Amino acid sequence: MSNSTQEIHEKVKKLLYSLTGITLADNKDIMISNRIDKLKRNCNYNGDVVDLLKSIEQGNHLTEFINSFTTNKTHFFREDFHFLDLKDRVLPMFANNGNKIQMYCSASSTGEEPYSMAMSVFEAKDQLNKNILASIIATDIDTSVLEYAANGIYRYSKSSKEFPSWIKPQKYFKRRVQKNLAGEEVLIKVNDELKRMITFQVMNLNDNTYPFSSHQFDVIFCRNVLIYFSSEDQNKILKKLFKHLKIGGTLYLGHSENPQDLVHYVKRVGQNIFVKEKDII
Ligand SMILES: C[S@@+](CC[C@H](N)C(=O)[O-])C[C@H]1O[C@@H](n2cnc3c(N)ncnc32)[C@H](O)[C@@H]1O
Repeated sequence: MSNSTQEIHEKVKKLLYSLTGITLADNKDIMISNRIDKLKRNCNYNGDVVDLLKSIEQGNHLTEFINSFTTNKTHFFREDFHFLDLKDRVLPMFANNGNKIQMYCSASSTGEEPYSMAMSVFEAKDQLNKNILASIIATDIDTSVLEYAANGIYRYSKSSKEFPSWIKPQKYFKRRVQKNLAGEEVLIKVNDELKRMITFQVMNLNDNTYPFSSHQFDVIFCRNVLIYFSSEDQNKILKKLFKHLKIGGTLYLGHSENPQDLVHYVKRVGQNIFVKEKDII
């Protein structure tokens, strides 16, 4: 790699960290080069990347920059034991009790995770034959994935194998066949009942404070996003999120994430499933 490419990559890393808190490891050069190409496409820009980065440093194209460098991999019912725990342990506590369960999905990407949370609510209702009032706030820093999520249309080929046996996708999606250059593809569209349960909004987990009240949520999903932060920043984010979780509320983390300092304030009740016992004092 030439010196100038190295300098460009260092500048990208610094900018990305200051805007999002995301830390890119030293072995990510190929990824950074690909994302720089994506950034140029997103900005409709064919000139020198050094000038583009200068312009970003001055506050231009920030959304395009952030959207180009996030990694949005997700799928329906990823780590499905978390949704089973939600359906079988948490949601029955809210059946017919008049209290709305307030849930938060803190890095919702293209929406498969919050829609899986919503489907778990409907499954719990049907299983218990009781009403459950529920709402989900789903946030991400990337505005393009939030738009995709709010639209709620997915390619069936990608989604079909992602549903666990206890979910019948036809209950929650309408199918539509669409012709394109490659032939035909099946699209599935999320039904309005699921959509109504979820509010999508942009939010940066790296912000100093979050726009929620203390103890607002009964459930927080924070999965497969902390891995993009340094250990110190992961701890800071977890502590900020924790303020908004009720005592007795549940925190779900991704498979390679851990509760850091929160370990003294939670009880582990399953694989990366933690129930809050007390506030941090
Ligand atoms: C790999 S996806 C994980 C999606 C989902 N939680 C899951 O487990 O399948 C990570 C998401 O975190 C988002 N993200 C990264 N940095 C963020 C930040 N500082 N604030 C909010 N979201 C962020 C990305 O935009 C991306 O959509």
